Amino acid sequence: MTLDMTIADQPAKAVKTLPDAQIVTEVQHYTDRLFRFRVTRPASLRFRSGEFVMIGLMGDPDPKLGKQKPLLRAYSIASPAWDEELEFYSIKVQDGPLTSKLQHIKVGDEVILRPKPVGTLVHDALLPGKRLWFFATGTGFAPFASLLREPQTYEDYDQIIVTHTCREVAELTYSAELIESIRTDEMLAELMGEGFADKIVYYPTTTREPSAKMGRVTDLLRDGTLFKDLGIEGISPQTDRAMVCGSMGLNIDIKEILEGFGLREGANSDPGEYVVEKAFVG
Ligand code: A2P
Repeated sequence: MTLDMTIADQPAKAVKTLPDAQIVTEVQHYTDRLFRFRVTRPASLRFRSGEFVMIGLMGDPDPKLGKQKPLLRAYSIASPAWDEELEFYSIKVQDGPLTSKLQHIKVGDEVILRPKPVGTLVHDALLPGKRLWFFATGTGFAPFASLLREPQTYEDYDQIIVTHTCREVAELTYSAELIESIRTDEMLAELMGEGFADKIVYYPTTTREPSAKMGRVTDLLRDGTLFKDLGIEGISPQTDRAMVCGSMGLNIDIKEILEGFGLREGANSDPGEYVVEKAFVG
């Protein structure tokens, strides 16, 4: 794992050259497939924890006209609404149009950020409940990194169960470190009340490398292993609420499981018992 210089170590750039440009302030690589970065936040940007924005870089020049167009993708904001910077958690796809370039960004570089946040993984889209489930695979953890640092999450719920399924143990580093940092963060404790982090139950699993808990979360739900491990009876539409963000397969399978427990899908305009968003950049 490597942590690049922070922006304080960099010479200041006088003029931004891209439209809607923000400056990269931190980059951290976890594996050859995953990294996180932080950028400056536009002063006017307001968003709800869990939402996403379009970010990107200028694409290659058009071979005929020589013109460049922005290459944008939807990225969940991984930082909470109160943070003065914005954080993103990204996959690196070697032949991906955007992430093949984005993975090389350095502190001081510019990225394009369209300041129009949207999304359904927001508290407003859920009816009141007691227990909140986050189901994530891979970089689908990003919106939950935001919501886990959002005071309302702890105000609204008695317990937050965070499941994260990845292929390998190293791919769990971001969620494991984030949750550990939340547990030891004095500022968050002051903001949200001492002991708030005791509400978090972290349930990481791997599918292709041995670890303490192996298997897809969907299989562990179906065969009851997850409930047995956590000492929980099951999922009930009276008490349980869920947010889902991962691959298309995860989203489809979890939907079916949650509907099987009697939960109904919600939206901003019509709150329900669970909400789903796909992890966009695959
Ligand atoms: P698997 O290794 O069995 O495919 P990816 O890195 O491809 O985005 O996948 C991230 C994780 O999501 C992997 O551990 C993968 O498991 C898991 N996964 C893929 N499809 C599903 C699904 N339908 N339900 C649950 N987990 C899934």
